[in-house]
Amino acid sequence: MNPPITELEAPIAPVAPASTPAPARTAAAPLPVPELPPRVLLDLVTDCNLKCPMCIVHGGTDDPRLKDFLKKSMTVENARQVLDELVAAKPLMMPGMWSEPLMNPNFKEHITQMKQRGLTVAMNTNGLKINEDMAKFLVDIKFDSVFVSVDATTSETLLKVRGIKRLDLLHQAVARLMTARGDRPHPRIGVSMTLQAVNRHERDAFVEFWTPRVDAVRIGEIYEAGHFSGFVAAGERVPCPSLYSTLAVNTNGNVSLCCLDGFNEYNMGNVFKDGVKGVWHGPKFTSMRRLHERGQWDKIPICKTCDRWSSYQYEDLVRDGLLVRRTAEYTYYNRIDRLQNWHKELHGTHGDPAVKLKESAVVS
Ligand SMILES: C[S@@+](CC[C@H](N)C(=O)[O-])C[C@H]1O[C@@H](n2cnc3c(N)ncnc32)[C@H](O)[C@@H]1O
Ligand code: SF4
Ligand code: SF4
Repeated sequence: MNPPITELEAPIAPVAPASTPAPARTAAAPLPVPELPPRVLLDLVTDCNLKCPMCIVHGGTDDPRLKDFLKKSMTVENARQVLDELVAAKPLMMPGMWSEPLMNPNFKEHITQMKQRGLTVAMNTNGLKINEDMAKFLVDIKFDSVFVSVDATTSETLLKVRGIKRLDLLHQAVARLMTARGDRPHPRIGVSMTLQAVNRHERDAFVEFWTPRVDAVRIGEIYEAGHFSGFVAAGERVPCPSLYSTLAVNTNGNVSLCCLDGFNEYNMGNVFKDGVKGVWHGPKFTSMRRLHERGQWDKIPICKTCDRWSSYQYEDLVRDGLLVRRTAEYTYYNRIDRLQNWHKELHGTHGDPAVKLKESAVVS
């Protein structure tokens, strides 16, 4: 008999190379940087209707940095300027960072202008603002991927992770999306759980409950105290792939070093003033990349202790009707019968799952 699918997660073995390999650290020569970033986080709003204790921005409710940070939204006009520059590269767009994207008062306009430009859009949401109207909008606009952060299987645990007891509201949000979509392909719908001490014991039950109900389940490790708690980085450290793949834009146009720079303490420049290319190839981003290429990540305090650089490689396993994709940080349980909407543009820095499916078809 096969072990439970979740047992596959036990210690992460060295993984197969990703289709976009992590840049190898050989000489101090600069590594190639794409002309435009392939993945863009466009933070539409700074606010959130929850205060999850784990959240690096909203979790510390007495954090003095919050005072100037909150109550900001990106305007549709400013976003348009960025999209017009990006459109040539067709990056994967994620309309949020450490906030609830649906709280932007012009959310629909923002998404509409992304989709009008043929961009692929994927988001995480806490689900609280997914009413029937919003579910219909996301289906009609052919939003590409929505992951609802559910994080718990019981209301007691939900209270500890998300500060609310109403697990039923989150289940209703997922059900609304599934009903609105029906047999249509879009959006791809998933749920996620960020693992931490208070919910780790519910991990298996979460996967078992949700895999029959949605297209994909994502389990991720928590980032806390400057690193990810649930894994130990394997292998020799390499320049962080995030610096070559992801542009994290705040509501005011300032660019963070990466999404972990939630309060924009490492400002790479401003895309509203200098344009995307001006920042992406600008002196600050370039100097950060050079430090990584020379192995001097300890000169960047946030990078010194961070282990995300090791989580870009993945391996695929085919099991029990699921394509299980594991990185050090995340495990995705993808329903094989619902893979059609996991299209190429949603793969991000990952590769095509069909490779593993073909292999397993040959084996079985
Ligand atoms: C920051 S939230 C933003 C979107 C939305 N507000 C939500 O909660 O889904 C995106 C994802 O990050 C996860 N997350 C929150 N705090 C985290 C942390 N400290 N480490 C890793 N993931 C975290 C959340 O569980 C969520 O799935
Ligand atoms: S819902 Fe998302 S953004 Fe809001 S506090 Fe929780 S993790 Fe942070
Ligand atoms: S090492 Fe960590 S903090 Fe530094 S750029 Fe990469 S993800 Fe961000």
